[in-house]
Amino acid sequence: MLVDPKDFPILKQKINGKPLIYLDNAATTQKPRKVINAISNFYTKSNANIHRGIHSLSEKATTAFEESRAKVAAFINAASPKEIVFTKNTTESINLIAKTFGELNIKAGDEIIVSALEHHSNLLPWRMLAEKKKAVLRIIPLNSDFTLNMTEYAKLISDKTRLVAITGMSNVTGTLTPVKRITSLAHKAGAKVLIDGAQYAAHIPTDVQSIDCDFFVFSAHKMLGPTGVGVLYAKKEILETLPPFLYGGDMVKSVQQDRIILNDIPHKFEAGTPNIADVIAFGSAIDYLSEIGMDRIREHDLKLLKFAKEKFSKYKEVALLCPKDLQKSGGTLSFTVKGVHPHDIAEIFNQEGIAIRAGYHCAEPLIRGLKLNSAARMSFYIYNSLDNIKAAEKALKKVLKIFK
Ligand code: ALA
Repeated sequence: MLVDPKDFPILKQKINGKPLIYLDNAATTQKPRKVINAISNFYTKSNANIHRGIHSLSEKATTAFEESRAKVAAFINAASPKEIVFTKNTTESINLIAKTFGELNIKAGDEIIVSALEHHSNLLPWRMLAEKKKAVLRIIPLNSDFTLNMTEYAKLISDKTRLVAITGMSNVTGTLTPVKRITSLAHKAGAKVLIDGAQYAAHIPTDVQSIDCDFFVFSAHKMLGPTGVGVLYAKKEILETLPPFLYGGDMVKSVQQDRIILNDIPHKFEAGTPNIADVIAFGSAIDYLSEIGMDRIREHDLKLLKFAKEKFSKYKEVALLCPKDLQKSGGTLSFTVKGVHPHDIAEIFNQEGIAIRAGYHCAEPLIRGLKLNSAARMSFYIYNSLDNIKAAEKALKKVLKIFK
């Protein structure tokens, strides 16, 4: 493992009499003491509302909140903290773009492109928008190795395409999509690009300027931060043209009888009191990840994934749902076992103290497209070790024995 497990107090416990092995990191990650303490410190020492008070506590809270914004901007190499909008999660960030950029720019006959890999969050907002505007939703198919079919993508792109909204890393197959190529092809056709970075940002060193995407969205809780904090990155020149998503306090400079003067970006998109404590604690999560280094996190993921693929592919009953090429995957391994429902697999793993997820993974069209009803998934992070995977193999053997 990459970190001292003592940093993660939750991992000390036993589940069903066995030491907890947490392999459900694509759903949410555990929190280091540094993040837990940041929440407690905020409420113990600095709690006040932000951007409003003249008093010292409010200034202290405002400074810490804006410091987190600057840390997030630096973490993904945004050109400015003004390009970072805090939301409640990835889903809200995508809906914000659908309701602002989408409402403004998508007309009847226009086309939106997504891929067959998408999580419901990066599918349903576009499906609903397309229905409402009588636009067309196009879907990039997969190759047989779970990668995106880039030839088909190139054929789908046209001067009708207004937006390409694609995951950077699938939460099911772990597939890493070629985000730079996707973006440059879309830009050549005059379309904007949204990258769903919910999994990507937690596992892959992220540079939004190098990708050149117009929007990049992700969630704090999948990268050691608290739940209830999402990020929308958007290029400044685009953010400035978009209307507000919600109306209320802090998003206006002045409210007069006959007109309102909107606040500057990013505050124009942050109506009402935000999730102050958790945004500040997210800053501590970013510090923690940065101290390790995202390059090392990627290396660690690859080491675990390689080992898990070797261990699990030995069994003829097991099918792995991931690209063959290790470099094309993040640290997630979905699988099925012939004749065993994935919920039973997850239950047997749980008896061994191992937390995995089973089901559609909020990506029902993808799972059905693979001609499955469900899949089991192990997803790794910095506190997982090769020993955890050995324990998972032992649990797999138990599954095979029970369902022989
Ligand atoms: N998107 C999360 C997952 O894949 C919830 O589990």
